[in-house]
Parts: sequence; structure tokens; C-alpha cells
Amino acid sequence: MVEKYVFGSPFETQAVIAEIEAAEFAGKEWLNISLENGFCCSYQMDDADVIYGLGEANRGINKRGYQYVSNCTDDPHHTEEKVSLYGAHNFIMISGKKHIGLFFDYPSNICFDIGYTRQDLLTVSCEQADLYLYVITGESAYDVTKQFRRMIGKSYIAPKYAFGFGQSRWGYKTAQDIEAVVSGYRDNQIPIDMVYLDIDYMQDYKDFTVNPERFPDFAQFVQKMRENRIHLIPIIDAGVKIEEGYDIYEEGVAKGYFCKREDGTDFVAAVWPGWTHFPDVLNPDARAWFGSKYKILTDLGIDGFWNDMNEPAIFYSEEGIQALNQAIADYAKEFSGGQGDAKTDSDDIMNNANAVPGEIREMMNQLQNSPADYRRFYHNVNGKMVRHDRVHNLYGFNMTRAAGEALQKIAPDRKMLLFSRSSYIGMHRYGGIWTGDNQSWWSHILLNLKMMPSLNMCGFLYVGSDLGGFGSNTTRDLVLRWLALGVFTPLMRNHAALGTREQECYQFEHIEDFRHVIRVRYRLIPYLYSEYLKAAMRDEMYFRPLGFDYPDDRRAVETEDQLMLGNEVMIAPVYTQNVSGRTVYLPEEMKFIKFMPDGSIYEEVLGKGTHYVEVALNEVPLFVRKDKCIPIVDAAGSVDEIDMSTVRYLGYDGAEYEMVE
Ligand code: GLC
Repeated sequence: MVEKYVFGSPFETQAVIAEIEAAEFAGKEWLNISLENGFCCSYQMDDADVIYGLGEANRGINKRGYQYVSNCTDDPHHTEEKVSLYGAHNFIMISGKKHIGLFFDYPSNICFDIGYTRQDLLTVSCEQADLYLYVITGESAYDVTKQFRRMIGKSYIAPKYAFGFGQSRWGYKTAQDIEAVVSGYRDNQIPIDMVYLDIDYMQDYKDFTVNPERFPDFAQFVQKMRENRIHLIPIIDAGVKIEEGYDIYEEGVAKGYFCKREDGTDFVAAVWPGWTHFPDVLNPDARAWFGSKYKILTDLGIDGFWNDMNEPAIFYSEEGIQALNQAIADYAKEFSGGQGDAKTDSDDIMNNANAVPGEIREMMNQLQNSPADYRRFYHNVNGKMVRHDRVHNLYGFNMTRAAGEALQKIAPDRKMLLFSRSSYIGMHRYGGIWTGDNQSWWSHILLNLKMMPSLNMCGFLYVGSDLGGFGSNTTRDLVLRWLALGVFTPLMRNHAALGTREQECYQFEHIEDFRHVIRVRYRLIPYLYSEYLKAAMRDEMYFRPLGFDYPDDRRAVETEDQLMLGNEVMIAPVYTQNVSGRTVYLPEEMKFIKFMPDGSIYEEVLGKGTHYVEVALNEVPLFVRKDKCIPIVDAAGSVDEIDMSTVRYLGYDGAEYEMVE
């Protein structure tokens, strides 16, 4: 059952598409709501209650014991204490004696204190009491999730090629760099379908341009790559460079399609291209206009995109820099006893870090993604000016919606790959997400795993993390172990930051191990894609916490380092260094399967209970549930080359599999 309550005058986020009649909240015995100081809702948690949800959020699958703030943030340091990441997914579920889903449709900062201040108390609060609250009750956690998913509309379905492996790196600059990557894979017989173009393909980081020196004939290059069964996937950033003569900038200014300050001038913020304007993607006309620009690249043969920096990330604003300059100039005057030339003195200060006083250093630290900047610009929503901070969490959603809506028009019969860094629930109808700038840390394999089912609850099915880790230097064993999780995530992409150690699969010794792990992915693609399609079409989850399938088994409910995948599989990747295996918990008998490096398959039936399973660095483990089976095929170099006539079934004899293609 779904109930919809309205508080104040909510912003229409369009997260929910089902028509549900709203009622005034008349009180509920178990839900305490106060409107005295903004909005605050609290729930007394039972000892055994598990709190699921929040999509792309830090820490566990069970969110109890910490606090989280939905506030889309460009922060590349996903350490344990962080409360906000790139997405805002305000759906939580209390699962215990009762199963209650709560969706807070509110597009600005909202805080989920889940037993942080008081261990038994869940409170959700936000500054403005203008929101829709959906209360969903059902017979199980999965039942509540499915009801929620029906409200928010069908999830995006990625093209089949996007289930292949992709290589990315911030730092590939030229067509030759890309060709070297493709050769690195093809020459070593490591399957690959996609190479990503990070910001350096553009001319001076200008959206929808291609640097003609680095890519002399881009259309031909894209074509040549396609002939080699490679899809090039360019990045698109939110900020549009301010530059006379750059058509997109000039058009956007002329049409009034950029976000504006209160005085009507276009807001200016620095991102990769230097000074930029942000397209006002909350304005339907501006959204259609920005989306139409993707055609510039689809006309050149491109059929996939990743949207980035769309929190939107701000390095600094004009106002922020002016205030800092003023503070430095004032200090410089003081520094020189009111005598000297302020400019020389501020240079002195900059050259002598110890001379920079605390307040100035603090100002410098706060230039990036500053809340003050998010209050400095406005969106034109059907003629009404809405201050950005009030709708901050909708920017990435609407940038990706711009692309998604446009791509449907540009190529109605063709699926395109589309995923985003920032998102809000609703965006799952237009694209997937990747989980942003993680690090080459072992703990981030586990964080990757834990986010997956929570994202699925919120509709995001095409998901994955930067395999091998984005920031910091990786190691061979970390890449291999991470890939063995990535084998199962719909988005399987190795991506790394500028300046880090090279981590393409052919950069390490014993390339055959990498070849093997990625070939396993290709052997599983028919199964993974079929389960993905089922999940998308039936409002189900591709990845589930064990507790969704075994709710009466407390041990299963508490297991957070294994996942159910589709209807047949459980995964339990190794995520610690220098180990030859791991402990797994089996809530029922299952068949333990390992894809061995010599191409053979190890199978062993394991009973319900705890087992230590050996998994070498170059083996890929999975578990098939009792009396079920999965299809596998022979490995192929690309998705197009998968030969369905080689299909055979793995798992329990006599089981049948329902294949959806
Ligand atoms: C952001 C993205 C990252 C990308 C980089 C350069 O940090 O999250 O994936 O490589 O920008 O474009």
C-alpha cells in the first residue's frame, strides 16, 4: 500500500510518475512528525530493525548507526566519516516486524540520522517543510521495494554492448593514445567493447567539441573503431566554457538558457575549462536545447556518453575569488604595516605558506563546492526563479534527462549508453550511474559491493564503480580482485585518475590472468543481460542483499559482503589483500563454481552454513542456488562476437533457465 502526504508546497521533482492522490498527514502512531522547525520525522527503531536504502551512500547495506545527508557533492575522498556522496536517493526502508518504505521527495539537503544521535531513533529532517512523503507498506522488504519501483517508473535499459568491458583513463589525449589502448587489449586477446574519452578529447574542455589536432578526422576514427568493434564513449561536463565565438556558449547566452544570478546576469563558476556557465537544465526549453547538442557527437558516430561534474561541481566562483582576493589584499596591507604595494605583498604571502593566516587558508579551502555559491544562482522553472540550493540535488538528474530525452529523439530505434555521476531518483529512467572518484583501496571494493543493491532499490540498475580504483596507485592484485567483482556489475569499467599508476589490464605481469577474468565476464553476458532485462522490465532488483531472499535467516540478513544476483546466483568476491580465499555464508545449499584459469570449471555442492572457500587471484567464483542453473557461452573478444550456439548450462541438473533477450 502506498500513501502520499503533502507538506507545504513541494517542488515537483518528477521522481515519481505514478498518479497517487495526496492526502494531508493526519498523524500515525508510529511516525512522529514535527513541522515546528522545518520538517522532522522520527521513528522508534526496534532492536532487530534493519534500515535499507539511500542508494549511492557510504558505509553498509544496513544503514543503521550513522548519519547521511542527501547533498550531491563532488568529493573524491570516500572515507568512512563522509555523509554525502554524488547522489541523492531519499528512499529508506525499515525492515523488521513491519516493512515500511519512506520516500522523501525533497530536492535539497535532507539529513537521515539513523541511530547516530540516539541508537534506537531514526530521524529525517530538512530545513523547509515543503515535500511529499510517500509511505509504502508491504509484506517484505522486497515487496516494499517493488511497490516503490512501480511508482518511479521503469529503469533505463543499456545497450547490450555496454555489458562488455570498458577501459578508461583520465589522460588519454590523442587518437594514438586510444589506438594504443585498443591494441593493448586486442593484441593480448583481452575482450573489450568500449574505450572512454575523458576531457582531453575536447578542444579546451568545451562540451561537444573535438580537438582537431588530437583527432584529425574524428568521424573516420569513430568508424574505424566501430569496425574493430570498439565503441568510443565521450565524457560531457556540466559547465559550458565562456569563450567568444564558441557557438554553444553564445547560443546559451542569447537564449537565456544558463543559470542566472539574482540580478539576471549569468552565473560564472570555474570548472575544468576555466570560467563557465551552467545550462539551466531545470528549464524545459534549456534542457531540450542542451540535449539537442548531443547530436553533434552522435552525427559523428558516437553512441554512448558519460555525464560528469553535474552536482554541479564548482572549483570556485567569481564571487568566491573576489572575496579571497580582497581578504589577501587586506591582509597584505596589514602584513606590510600599511606601507607597501599590496600586490607584491600578496605574492609574498602566497610564496610563504606559513605567512597565510588561518582565516585566509580556510577561505581557500572553502572555495570549492561552497554552499554560498549554490545560493548565488537560480533556475527558471516555468517562469519562476528558483534558487539553486533549494533544488540542488536535481541538477545531475536533469542534465542526464536532457541527454536521455534528446537521444530518444535522435535515434528512437537505437539504445544508447548513458550514465551520470550525480543523480536523484527519477534519473534511473534515463541512464545509469558510476559511483564517482573512488580510490585504489581494498576497502573500496567492499564499498562498491555494498552500494549496488541499495542503488537497485532506488531504480538504478546500470551501475558500477571505477574498477582498480580511480585515485591513488593501484596494484596488480587489487585490480584482479576488483575485476572479479566487476565481472558481475552491469557497468564494468577500469578507470583511473591522471597521474596515477597505469592500470590497464596489459600493464601488469601475467596478462593471461586478466585475460581470463575478463573472458569470464563475456561467458556470462547472456545470463547477466537476461537478468538485467528481467529486473528492468519487472521492477525487480538485479543485485539484492541476502536478507531480501532469506528474511528469516538472521545470519543472512547480517551478511554484507555477499550479494544475490538475478534469480539464480550469489556472489562473494574476495576483497582483502594477501589471502588465498574467504569465508562465505550459505543460507541454503548451493553449488560453488569457480572459473579456473585453464578454462575449466570447478564445481562443488556446499551445504547450508559457513565455509572457507579457496579463491586464487586468477579465479572467478560464484554460487548457483539450489535447483537452479545459468547459461554460459564460450568467451568472445566483444559482445557482438558472442556465439549463442555455444550456450550450455551450469548448476543443478534438470533445472531450467528462462532466457530473456
Ligand atoms: C572527475 C570524474 C572523473 C574524471 C575527471 C576528469 O573527477 O569523476 O571520472 O576522470 O573528472 O574528467
